Amino acid sequence: MTISTLSLNDGHQVPWIAFGTGTALFGKDAEDAIRLAIDNGFTHLDGAQVYGNEDTLGDGIVASGKSRSQLFITTKLGKLQPGATPKSALQESLKKIKVDYVDLYLVHQANNHVGQLKEIWKGMEEAQKAGLTKSIGVSNFAPDHLKTIMEVASIPPAVNQVEAHPYVWKALQPNLAIHDQYKIVTSSYAGLSPLFRGKGGPLDPVIEQIRARLEKTRGTPVSDGQVLNKWLQQKGVLVVTTSSKAERIREYLDTENVPELTAEEIALIDTTGGKLHKRFFPGNWPPE
Ligand SMILES: NC(=O)c1ccc[n+]([C@@H]2O[C@H](COP(=O)([O-])OP(=O)(O)OC[C@H]3O[C@@H](n4cnc5c(N)ncnc54)[C@H](OP(=O)(O)O)[C@@H]3O)[C@@H](O)[C@H]2O)c1
Repeated sequence: MTISTLSLNDGHQVPWIAFGTGTALFGKDAEDAIRLAIDNGFTHLDGAQVYGNEDTLGDGIVASGKSRSQLFITTKLGKLQPGATPKSALQESLKKIKVDYVDLYLVHQANNHVGQLKEIWKGMEEAQKAGLTKSIGVSNFAPDHLKTIMEVASIPPAVNQVEAHPYVWKALQPNLAIHDQYKIVTSSYAGLSPLFRGKGGPLDPVIEQIRARLEKTRGTPVSDGQVLNKWLQQKGVLVVTTSSKAERIREYLDTENVPELTAEEIALIDTTGGKLHKRFFPGNWPPE
């Protein structure tokens, strides 16, 4: 199975969909889940220091038998311990994941580094220059956070991983404008929230209507999750998701084979989602 890639502003390529070890796996042993994800076709794995399971992410990678070059590994900088730097924190992560480098290293939360964002970003650049990560980026960065680091950056962030689904898409517009300006790839977490965290919202009938149309066009089953992931993919968003089920993991990867949404269907999701502003991870974002 080939997984299409997105181009980063530093010349690297990133698989458009990633399997995450936060949320459902936060603080838990991730080995079996990672093994399941890789065995069923995932190549991009999304970890973080704060998830407390980088060691078992590494165990799953080792157990999969895949070579390092076949995988794309992301991890994220958490709160810094006294005396630590982004580079030394990444060295600790690499030991746990049992690899020599990651492909992408993100600042997990701007809120963890209030008043220190500029020096944190220079530290991220040092980690990249030392060859410990191919690319560097951020997560949960609002426009002001991005503007702050761009004042000192010699390398702009390649990615900003944020909560992204139709119920926050309108609120994300100022972010997306800055992403466009610096060619920063938008990455989504919580992308499937309208299906369960926000079930009962105005999108429910719209997703069902589009799902049924795509299923008829395709002639084989299309799921509601595929509608939302396709919507994100067609917007050029890097999707970070997760699942405990082999069948759903294969369904996520099969999104690429689902027929495209029409421009009208995309606009319908945008406008319907815009009727209800809902952020499911408000603690990750400045007060609104
Ligand atoms: N940067 C950050 O601050 C941040 C924050 C949150 C998450 N993340 C990353 O993003 C990853 C994915 O996060 P997420 O959990 O928010 O992703 P998501 O794609 O919104 O949701 C995935 C979850 O949805 C469930 N699901 C899928 N389809 C469903 C359906 N039709 N009905 C009901 N449930 C359904 C899955 O459960 P099953 O097991 O039943 O399939 C799975 O637990 C995390 O693991 C982490 O790596 C990052």
